[in-house]
Amino acid sequence: MTYDDQDIMTKDPLIDHILISSEQIDRRVQQLGAEISRDYVDRKPILVNILKGAFVFLADLTRSISVHHEVDFMAISSYHGGTESTGVVKIEKDLKANITNRDVLIVEDIVDTGLTLNHLLDVLKTRNPRSVRVCTLLDKSTRRIKDVPVDYRGFEIPDEFVIGYGLDYDEKYRNLPFIGVLKP
Ligand code: IMP
Ligand code: MG
Repeated sequence: MTYDDQDIMTKDPLIDHILISSEQIDRRVQQLGAEISRDYVDRKPILVNILKGAFVFLADLTRSISVHHEVDFMAISSYHGGTESTGVVKIEKDLKANITNRDVLIVEDIVDTGLTLNHLLDVLKTRNPRSVRVCTLLDKSTRRIKDVPVDYRGFEIPDEFVIGYGLDYDEKYRNLPFIGVLKP
């Protein structure tokens, strides 16, 4: 898919700048898909997508993975509007699949404080999967409160609130094809 990032950006006066272009995302997602495909040969992993933010990433990632795999969805909330994580995590929607003895790959949009992922890993491990790994498009590692393992990382980003490619500000901007930063 090709997008005119610049054109989309200039039409919205609230977007300050593009942090990662749709082209850069595209290239990186292909690389991640290739890496995952190599690591999971003959394993049929289950990709656990964390809604809503990671749905765009999953849609591209699944098409860049050449080995058989399943997808399933989970919704957790740790976030109640605004731009700061509350640390309160609640499972809003659980998986359909039984992950016991399965190779689980969590697909996240962003790891910030790590609180959400830390809680999620605890929950999933009680179900005795064969393995659990984490793939996140974005990593704001300087903000980490809980040390969580990240196995596949798209981009390390600075401590800025980002939007686009699935990530929202008050449910808006998920549809942007790039990762951007809003005006202060
Ligand atoms: P954590 O628990 O602090 O790691 O936060 C993880 C969740 O917070 C992510 O899954 C996002 O939904 C949200 N989040 C963190 N930083 C951002 C951001 O810069 N933009 C949009 N959402 C964010
Ligand atoms: Mg999220």
